[in-house]
Amino acid sequence: MVTRFALLFIAACVGAAGVGLLLGSHYAALGALAVVLLRMGLDHWRGRRLLVALRTDALQALPQRGGDIWGELAQRIARMRRDSEMQLRQSEARLKEFLVALENSPNGVVLLDEKGRIEWCNQTAATHFGFDAQRDQFQSIGNLVRDPVFAAYLASGKYDHEVVLSMPAPASLPLKLSVQVHPYAGNRRLMLSRDVTAVEQAEAMRRIFVANVSHEIRTPLTVLAGFIETLQTLPLEEAERIRYLNLMAQQSHRMQTLVSDLLTLSRLEGSLQPGSGEWTPIHALMDYCEQEGRALSRTLPHAQGQTLRFEIRWDCEVAGSQTELTSAMSNLVSNAVRYTPAGGCIDVIWQSLPDGAAEFSVSDTGPGIAPEHIAHLTERFYRVDHSRSRETGGTGLGLAIVKHVLQRHGTVLKVQSTPGKGSTFSFAIPASRVRNGRASGTNLNAARQTVDTISTSLS
Ligand SMILES: Nc1ncnc2c1ncn2[C@@H]1O[C@H](COP(=O)(O)OP(=O)(O)OP(=O)(O)O)[C@@H](O)[C@H]1O
Ligand SMILES: [Mg+2]
Repeated sequence: MVTRFALLFIAACVGAAGVGLLLGSHYAALGALAVVLLRMGLDHWRGRRLLVALRTDALQALPQRGGDIWGELAQRIARMRRDSEMQLRQSEARLKEFLVALENSPNGVVLLDEKGRIEWCNQTAATHFGFDAQRDQFQSIGNLVRDPVFAAYLASGKYDHEVVLSMPAPASLPLKLSVQVHPYAGNRRLMLSRDVTAVEQAEAMRRIFVANVSHEIRTPLTVLAGFIETLQTLPLEEAERIRYLNLMAQQSHRMQTLVSDLLTLSRLEGSLQPGSGEWTPIHALMDYCEQEGRALSRTLPHAQGQTLRFEIRWDCEVAGSQTELTSAMSNLVSNAVRYTPAGGCIDVIWQSLPDGAAEFSVSDTGPGIAPEHIAHLTERFYRVDHSRSRETGGTGLGLAIVKHVLQRHGTVLKVQSTPGKGSTFSFAIPASRVRNGRASGTNLNAARQTVDTISTSLS
C-alpha cells in the first residue's frame, strides 16, 4: 500500500514537473523535482537508520509503527527475530532435556564423530570405560578402550551384534560390559554400553549348578545301571541278589534325597517370605528335632557311642514357618550326628541373648572345619570331605537350605570351629520374632567350644 502510494506520489511529482515544463513553468517543474528528491532522501535516511539498527542489534530503539514501509519493515523484522529467538530457546531447552534423560540412563551412551572421537558421553559410560567426560572429549575412542575385541569390532564396521568386554574395575571383580555401536547421520556412531556382570555371573553359576546336578545324579545312576545289567546277565545266588538289590535301593534313595533337596531349595527361593503371624513354641520344634537326631544316631554305625543332649534354657514362641525352621534345625543336628565320631558329644541348646533374640546352637566334638572352608559351607554341593560326606549319603545341599531358611527368617548362620576339636553352628531369631519368653531347664556345663574358635556368619 505504502509502496504503491510512494510510487504514485513520485509519478505524480514527475508528471507535475513534466506538465510544468510543457507549459513553460520552470518553477513548477523545479518544485516537483525538489519534492521527489526530498522524498528519496528521506527514504534513504530511514533505510540506513534501519540497516544501522540491524547491524548494531538496536532494532528495539526504532519506532515500531506500521504506518509506512520503514516502520512496518522494522516491526516485522523485530517480530521475526523474537520468534526465532523463542524457537532457539525452546530447542535449547529440549536439547537439555534430552541430555538430562541420556545422562540418567542406566546404560552408557557415547556419541562418536566421523573420526571415532568422543563428542559427548554420559556419566554411566564414563564409569563403565573409565573416561573423564570433560578431559577425554574429542579423544579417539580407540586410544581409550584398548581391548582387542573392541578394536576389532570397531574396525569391522559390522555392528549388527553386541560384544562383551571385560573392563578392569578397581577393588572388585572385572566389569563385564555389553557394547553395541549404531551408525547414524552418515559416518557418526552412537555407542551403547550395558553392565552385564551380574547376568554373566548368574549364567556362570547356572552352568556350574547344572554341571553339579548332572554329576550328582550320574554317579548313582551309573551304579544302578551296572547292578541292573549284572542282575539281567548273571545267574546270582539268592543272598547275592538281595545284597545287590539293597545297594540299588541305597542309590535310588540317594537320588530321591537329591531331587527332594533341590525341590526344597527352589521352593524356598520362589516363595514369599513367611509372615510373622505363625507362632510356634520352641519346645515343639525341639521335640521333633530331638526325635530325628536320636533316630539318626541309632541308625548310623559310627554314631553308636555318641552323647546327645537337648536343652531349652529359654522357652518362647518364635514367628515363622514351623516346617522351614524344623528343617533348618534338623539339618544342623543331622550334620553333627553324621560328622561326629563314636564317643563324641553333641549339645543342642535354645537360649536367650541379651538383646532379646532366641539363639539355637548345635555344638559337637567332631573333626571341626578348617577356616578356608567355612565361607563356602553354604554353597550348593560344597563338601569339606567328599568321601566322608558321600559315605553318610550327604548331597551337599543341607547347609544351602539352612542358609535360605534363615535368610527368610531375618537371620544368618554362624559357624565357630576348631579343627580337631569340634564345631558350633548357631543362629539367632531376632527379638522382633520372639514372644512369651521364660527361662526353663538346667544349665549344661560343656555346651560350647570356646578356645581358639573362628566365628563366621554365613549370610
Ligand atoms: N558339624 C560338622 N562337622 C564337620 N563338618 C561339617 C559339619 N557340618 C557340615 N560339615 C561339612 O560341611 C559340608 C556341607 O554340609 P551340608 O550339610 O551342606 O552337606 P552334606 O552334609 O554333605 O549333605 P546333605 O545335603 O545331606 O546335608 C559337609 O559335607 C561337611 O563336610
Ligand atoms: Mg548336611
